[in-house]
Amino acid sequence: MTQAVEIDRSQVLQNVLEKNEFKASALIAILQDIQHALGFLPEDVLEELADMLKIPRSQVYSVVTFYKAFKLVPPGKHNIKVCLGTACHIKGGSELIRTLESQLGIKEGQVTEDGLFSFEPVMCVGCCGLAPVMMIDETFHGKMTPKQIPKILNECKKKEE
Ligand code: FES
Repeated sequence: MTQAVEIDRSQVLQNVLEKNEFKASALIAILQDIQHALGFLPEDVLEELADMLKIPRSQVYSVVTFYKAFKLVPPGKHNIKVCLGTACHIKGGSELIRTLESQLGIKEGQVTEDGLFSFEPVMCVGCCGLAPVMMIDETFHGKMTPKQIPKILNECKKKEE
């Protein structure tokens, strides 16, 4: 049986800042590290970060909102990544995105009402021979077709029951 562990956000922030020597010039790397640790960039952490780096909060927000890779809301329990690198794009990656939109009723970066799913396009994930590629959490699904998506989503839902 697993046990939920509350992540100490302030401790994460402290560790990331120490790693990056509290340098405001490393803001992007710091934001990446925080997102990697927490899964997204919570507002309170961004405000604390600005205060600790002694930079305006607007500067932090302008970076976060400029780069699509930064997330201000937590992803769904199962985050789906659809590769839109060249090989996957040519082999129908966009079709996979459209199917996810209709199956889940959300757009990229949004989360389903039950909190189970979110999805995002990504660039080449390094297995172009399997294009088009989709990942759910850490599992790769290669040579994907839109028809396979409902079955994969249902399997995920069943595991939650
Ligand atoms: S382009 Fe999709 S895995 Fe390389």
